[in-house]
Amino acid sequence: TGTGKFFVGGNWKCNGTKDSISKLVSDLNSAKLEADVDVVVAPPFVYLDQVKSSLTDRIEISAQNSWVGKGGAFTGEISVEQLKDIGVKWVILGHSERRHIVGEDDQFIGKKAAYALSEGLGVIACIGELLEEREAGKTFDVCFQQLKAFADTVPSWDNVVIAYEPVWAIGTGKVATPQQAQEVHAAVRDWLKNNVSAEVASKTRIIYGGSVNGGNSAELAKQEDIDGFLVGGASLKGPEFAIIINSVT
Ligand code: G3P
Repeated sequence: TGTGKFFVGGNWKCNGTKDSISKLVSDLNSAKLEADVDVVVAPPFVYLDQVKSSLTDRIEISAQNSWVGKGGAFTGEISVEQLKDIGVKWVILGHSERRHIVGEDDQFIGKKAAYALSEGLGVIACIGELLEEREAGKTFDVCFQQLKAFADTVPSWDNVVIAYEPVWAIGTGKVATPQQAQEVHAAVRDWLKNNVSAEVASKTRIIYGGSVNGGNSAELAKQEDIDGFLVGGASLKGPEFAIIINSVT
């Protein structure tokens, strides 16, 4: 790891029931977690309140999405104000499942990030290339373009964590090698240095996501520019998520 406090997020995606979530929360409440790690979990909207009221304060809560502006007549949406009202501190934006399955574009995601930050939420800003983009040698171009959409809109980088999630590694069991991840993380940091500022480059945490598990997290965590993880599947198992959190080096 290089920059700032190690940061581990658990993205539960569209998984869980009241019962399975209550079990996961009790496993997390009893887990022994390294003190020097920021830990955040992102339950589905409908369980945010349940998790907020039962989970230890040691772990902060994130939403998996938020509306682009103030609430109102936007059927099916959840506003930043509502998230804050129930104690949510973070929101994941630009996740590849929202980019590629739902069709959110760079501009819309950038606007969402700016709004959430201006209202005081932390933003986990996701970027990452598709397999065909990697194979065409476009990994950096794609990541930089997605990054630029955030850079063009965010009022400040203080509460932003960047998550690099290569799409081919998400939910596939095909984790990026530590070298592949490090290469992109270093390039992202360099981009921040050249396009935002040296200070933002050195302070902003860049976390990796894509098939992270209890068996591969320690090697990844050793890389200089890997400042934490965004974990999907393995975050649904309390003991394994704790191993990943504790792989901070
Ligand atoms: O946001 C986390 C994510 O997309 C990675 O998912 O299941 O490959 O760990 P997974």
